Amino acid sequence: MPDAAPLPASATQPAWDKLAALAAAPEGRLITPLFAADPKRPETFSASFEDMFLDISKTSISPEAMKALFELARAARVEDFIARLFAGEPVNMTEHRSAMHMALRSLPDAGFRAILPDGSYEDASKVAAHERDHMEKFVRGVHDGSIVAADGRPFTDVLNIGIGGSDLGPRMVSLALTFVHGAKINPHFLSNVDGHAFAQFARELDPARTLVLVASKTFTTLETMTNGHAARDWLAGALGEDAVHHHFAALSTNLKETAKFGISEDRVFGFRDWVGGRYSVWSAIGLSVALAAGWDAFEQFLAGGRAMDEHFRSTPLERNLPALLALAGIWNLDILGAGTLCILAYDARLARFPAYLQQLEMESNGKSTRLAGDRVTHQTCPVVFGEPGTDAQHSFMQLVHQGPALVPVDFILAAEADHDRPEAHRILAANVFAQAEALLEGKTLAQVTAEMEKAGEDRETIARVAPHRVFTGERPSTTILYKKLDPYSLGRLIVLYEHKVAVQGAIWGINSYDQWGVELGKKLAQAIIPSLEPGASPGKHDGSTTSLMARFKALRGER
Ligand code: F6P
Repeated sequence: MPDAAPLPASATQPAWDKLAALAAAPEGRLITPLFAADPKRPETFSASFEDMFLDISKTSISPEAMKALFELARAARVEDFIARLFAGEPVNMTEHRSAMHMALRSLPDAGFRAILPDGSYEDASKVAAHERDHMEKFVRGVHDGSIVAADGRPFTDVLNIGIGGSDLGPRMVSLALTFVHGAKINPHFLSNVDGHAFAQFARELDPARTLVLVASKTFTTLETMTNGHAARDWLAGALGEDAVHHHFAALSTNLKETAKFGISEDRVFGFRDWVGGRYSVWSAIGLSVALAAGWDAFEQFLAGGRAMDEHFRSTPLERNLPALLALAGIWNLDILGAGTLCILAYDARLARFPAYLQQLEMESNGKSTRLAGDRVTHQTCPVVFGEPGTDAQHSFMQLVHQGPALVPVDFILAAEADHDRPEAHRILAANVFAQAEALLEGKTLAQVTAEMEKAGEDRETIARVAPHRVFTGERPSTTILYKKLDPYSLGRLIVLYEHKVAVQGAIWGINSYDQWGVELGKKLAQAIIPSLEPGASPGKHDGSTTSLMARFKALRGER
């Protein structure tokens, strides 16, 4: 197995320096001259896997810069990292865990292994397959009516209560896979501890027809436990305490806590510590997906993820989709200084995909400490945001086209639609190509002026308005195209980004698999909760916090 000792920052410095020098050259940040210089650029700066096509040609990565990016990846020993990741080595070194979510979508005899707290290894593929059997029986039982509500009638709705990875994945995937043909059981997602969110479900759902999944890896997350208990009270209040057994299931690694909550073992769908929250939609956390979209769809989803795992693991970096997407991102972020990444899926079914990627990217790589314990030498993660296209064009795309900041965009599009209005899909697709072209080509003052003259505008108007209508162009984007969105291709798409994040983490020399950055706020909230009781002392805080807490109480008529 390759050496796991953390690399010193100096190992990658020459490659970083080379990249910085290339970008500093007179045309080093321009894209259009690269197309002029090489008519074959669309082919050489793209790669495909099955019907999925990734185009990174609309970036300012020259052939020399691409070479230097591969040198950077190799200096960072990305290929070794991939080998250690798939071998189940404890790449999550602060928690001494494997990041073995790939086992969740592997075949039962794939032999993926994961490290246990005592240092021994378990067959993660077998563990995952065992739990999948449990899930399948349950899902098929609910669908065929052999698992029913307390009154013997079938469930019509499933409420997944979870947050972060226990919400974003299942929510995004369920929406995508049930958007067109509807759901076998209507999925609902409750994440926010804001009581208004629960009140809405309590109003809209019929407890007698609702299956409640309490989804929490740790089963201690404040929001989920608060909402879980609220749902339990709501359901037991309406149907009696005995109904809880029929209506509740837990998706968790923490059997002790699920038992305390009152959920019997056969209704606990487990997974292991080697599955990080943001990688857990493939595990029992995906139960709501399987219930909504059907077991076969869930299997297809896993198969798509598995196919992309195989591609990632076995394809040289030069043709490796996740690696290419990662390197384009590194160029934009670290070399050009573009601190954001805009995700534009031209697909209403992927409305929650940007939110999903926000956690995947930012919780994984929003870190400042390298594996060696020193500080990172480069920015580690862009701020990710996005909305479905074309909606985004009528909101924030103004800034992306004309703002002073460089905002790289990932365009995502399925070639075939799952509806019978081809004209609508042509309009949608045309907008993807038009947006990317506009970002690339822009429009000069001379072009604007000529256009305005042709339209018969007077000189004064042209002088006043034309500068505002200039587009600088030379703005980078990447495009991901595939035949159609289905469970399989969605699985592939998610894993494309999962492994992109892994490659970037390896290059920055950070641990993409822990999330200590969310801890401090959680602890402080626990300390503040009792201080917000009427009459309680505020405790010791900074001046602003003390004053805001006092004002909050005063607005409520409390002291
Ligand atoms: O907020 C951080 C986090 O730990 C995420 O990583 C995780 O997805 C989420 O909270 C929910 O955690 P759990 O599934 O344990 O409730």
